[in-house]
Amino acid sequence: MKFLQVADKQDMARKAAGIIAAQVLLKNDSVLGLATGATPVGAYGQLAKWCREGEISFRDVITVNLDEYCGLPETSPQSYRYYMNENFFNQIDIDPANTHLPDGMAADMDAECSRYSALIRSLGGIDLQLLGIGMNGHIGFNEPKAHFVMDTHTVALSENTREVNGVYFENPADMPTHAVTMGMREILQAKRIVLMAGKEKEAILHRALEGEVTPEVPASLLQLHPRLTVVFEGGK
Ligand code: F6R
Repeated sequence: MKFLQVADKQDMARKAAGIIAAQVLLKNDSVLGLATGATPVGAYGQLAKWCREGEISFRDVITVNLDEYCGLPETSPQSYRYYMNENFFNQIDIDPANTHLPDGMAADMDAECSRYSALIRSLGGIDLQLLGIGMNGHIGFNEPKAHFVMDTHTVALSENTREVNGVYFENPADMPTHAVTMGMREILQAKRIVLMAGKEKEAILHRALEGEVTPEVPASLLQLHPRLTVVFEGGK
């Protein structure tokens, strides 16, 4: 594991963006696994800036996102498709057809989960997976529970996640109860993982990286990954 401790959120964004840019420069048709949430917004902004300045191109990149809420159309500003378009895809030269998220509106969610798992396999897996971490140790929406779930699945969001993410909804009661997420095997099979964490995540990050490997802290499984880079806003 490589642990990069950075001074502030801007530094965290630049470091994570630099690692992603290096991946794309070395392999222009990289498969990038992407995350949403507050943490990676700055990194997406930095990458978009480098793209506008001609430093980097996403023309041949393929993206697969970790997760999506169930029941929110992509026109909803709270949907992860909307977030990705706004914060990243619409600002770079990527082919929109190469950007993938699970469809939280699918009529048959089991079929949708199988389709998404098959898609990831057909791409040959993920070259670089970007992750944030939930206050409860979730990655993607793999919530704490008694066992790890391996492949893409629907999940009932925990009370903690509904409370934390509910702030993005005008009426917190509109926060979806379910989501669809990549599973732990799909995440862990990524050739490289970059985990970003702001200083408010210090306690859970410590537990995940130095505590027991347990499905009660899903991010703890990352301890087993051979190429994990943590970018932590820890101050200096
Ligand atoms: C988002 C995702 C989540 C977030 C986590 C942290 O696609 O998969 O695991 O990374 O909830 O969210 P923020 O960055 O908002 O603290």
